[in-house]
Order: sequence, then C-alpha cells, then structure tokens
Amino acid sequence: MSTAITNIGELVTNDPGRGDGPLGIVRDAALVIEDGAVAWTGPAAGAPAADEVVDAAGRAVLPGFVDSHAHLVFAGERAEEFAARMSGRPYAAGGIRTTVERTRAASDDELRANLRRLVDEMARQGTTTVECKSGYGLTVEQEERAVRIAAEIADEVTYLGAHVVPSEYGDDTAGYTRLAATGMLSACAPHARWVDAFCERGAFDADQAREVLQAGIKAGLMPRLHANQLTEGPGVRLAVELDAASADHCTFLSGADVDALASSRTVATLLPGVEFSTRQPYPDARRLLDAGATVALATDCNPGSCYSSSMAFCIAVAVRDMRMTPAEAVWSATAGGARALRRTDVGHLSVGARADVHVLDAPSHIHLAYRPGVPQTFAVWKRGHRVGA
Ligand code: NIG
Ligand code: FE
Repeated sequence: MSTAITNIGELVTNDPGRGDGPLGIVRDAALVIEDGAVAWTGPAAGAPAADEVVDAAGRAVLPGFVDSHAHLVFAGERAEEFAARMSGRPYAAGGIRTTVERTRAASDDELRANLRRLVDEMARQGTTTVECKSGYGLTVEQEERAVRIAAEIADEVTYLGAHVVPSEYGDDTAGYTRLAATGMLSACAPHARWVDAFCERGAFDADQAREVLQAGIKAGLMPRLHANQLTEGPGVRLAVELDAASADHCTFLSGADVDALASSRTVATLLPGVEFSTRQPYPDARRLLDAGATVALATDCNPGSCYSSSMAFCIAVAVRDMRMTPAEAVWSATAGGARALRRTDVGHLSVGARADVHVLDAPSHIHLAYRPGVPQTFAVWKRGHRVGA
C-alpha cells in the first residue's frame, strides 16, 4: 500500500541537499509513503503512481514534530499551583512531590490511560516522536513501573529516578542518590534508553547528578540532563563533560556554558513553555545559535512547570521572544529534537526516513509562529499510518 501526497505548496524536508535553505524546501512538491517510510519526494509533476492519492491543495508539509523532553507518567494535576504562581508565588522543585504522591496512589491502568491520552493529544497536533521520563515514582518499584509503562507507549524512554529526593528520605540526598545509582537503576535500565537527572539547587548537585549518570552509562544508558533551569550552575558543563545527547532548559547560562555547548555535540534543548508557565525569563536562543550550538525545542509537558503539549506554541514563543527565525524554530522542533535523541530516522523527510508527516492547514511553515494559538494541523501520518483515520 503506497500513499502519494500531491499538490504540496511547500515541502519542508530538512534535507538541504533536496531543496532550498537549511529546511530543504521543495515547492509544488509531492511525497510518497510506502511501508512506513518516505519512498519518494520531489516536484509534483514527476511523482510516481501510488495506491492512494491525497491532494494537499497547496498546503505546507513538514516532518512530524520530535518532542524530545516530556514527563508523561503521572496522575493528577496542579492547576492551583499554577494559579498561585500567576499571582506571585515562585516555581520551586518541591512541587514535584505533590505529583509523586498522586502518582504512587494511581493504578497502572490509570497511568497508562493518562499517558495514552497525552501522546494522542500530541499526535493530533503533529508530534510523531515523544520522549517520556519517569521521575514521579521515586521508589524502586514505582520507578520501574513508570519506565515499563512509558516503554509501552512512548518512542523514547528516560529513567529520571534523580528527579527530586522523595520526602521519606528527609535531607539524606546522598542516601537517595546511591539508590538511584544502584538498585533503582538496575530495575529501570531494561526498559529505558536514557538516564537523566535534575541538576539544580533544591534537587541534585553536580557530584550527585554525575554519580547517577555515570552509573547509567555503565548500565548501557545514554545521558541527558536537566541543567541550568532555575539558576546558573554546573549542569551544562556536566552534560558536556559526559557527552550527554542534550542539556535541557539552559535558561541561565554563563559565557563558559555557551562556549562549552558550542564546542560539543551536546544539544541545547530549550523548553519555552516552562518559562511561560513559571513566569521566568526565556532562554536566549539567539546567543546559543550565534555561538554555533545546536538548539532543539521541546514542550517539557508535565503537570507542574508546563502543562502544554503544543510544539506549535513553543515555536511561536521561540520566534517572538527568543529571537529565533521561523525557519530556525521549525528546524529545532523537528530535526533539532531528533539530534537531541540521537535519532537519524525522524525529524526529516528524506527518502528512507520514517513516514512521520505533518500537513499544515497553512501554505508555509511561517504560519506556525505567525498565527499563534490557532490549531493548524490538517493531517498527520505516524510511521506511515494516518493519525485519527
Ligand atoms: O523539567 N525540572 C524538573 N522537572 C520538571 C518539572 C516537573 C514538575 O514540576 O512536576 C521540569 O520542569
Ligand atoms: Fe523536564
């Protein structure tokens, strides 16, 4: 079974060899999907025959969004905390414990259903690759359960036992860190591909984060890190030291942090929905891009610091307030996310890529930032299957 999408006004391939500019744009294009992969792209006039033909009527077609940072295994919500924040209370890592309590009390099926609901919500908005972290269980059994359920549904699974120290540990951060780097890690590693830690004042310091990440690497996982979200600290340099795939947040950076990112292959993953929802200053994407760092955009979707699953919203904010061009923001939300997950099969629409295709109800990718808050997803294919069909 093959599907040809024809009459595409603007096809964003993210393959500079295929079309114009860094987005590799082909105009008046067609794209053929076969066996879950992109089988052909090029000018519509030359498109091969296919079993099914979909007329895009001049719309733009993009690679599906790659949301490389989300916390989706949880129960409950924290709307009251958000409301309090909007009237002046600052965001603090401690709020995570509220969700830990709700998550521990939930059944497997409740967690599964909530995760499924969010991944479906994302797919309807054009997100076709989702990374999902644990981190609201914080016991061996609860963290194992979280990564196991995440692995059933999400594309990429991250073990985040080192999210915060659970209240039963009091101030024994060292004791909890040891557990996160030993028994909890061994229980979780078979279900995960990544290890993460929240390196921040009020969570884990650099030595503690390093202990967990290095143990994860020994157990066969690859590192990524929550770094420099609330304060300028050692997180980004630790991420680079360990050749982490990504340093996430990067809100408060020193010149040395920017240089370290620029001279490494660690992606700076920016999560503007968090700054929006915690009323913090936005990270300076322009500074990172001008220095030569690779930037990804992701939602961080979670019930505390940002309960939004919208990559389009992230793009709009990144363009309006983080000095990214629309083309840079779209690249960061697709190809950038793929880099942050060290994936070569998603985030672009070259022949052979996974058929993750996002048809916008708009003539160009610029509309994602130009028409903020407006639903613009017309159709989505994930691994060659039409979402919602
Ligand atoms: O990425 N920073 C740490 N963890 C999440 C917040 C989780 C929560 O508040 O529940 C984040 O922002
Ligand atoms: Fe996060």
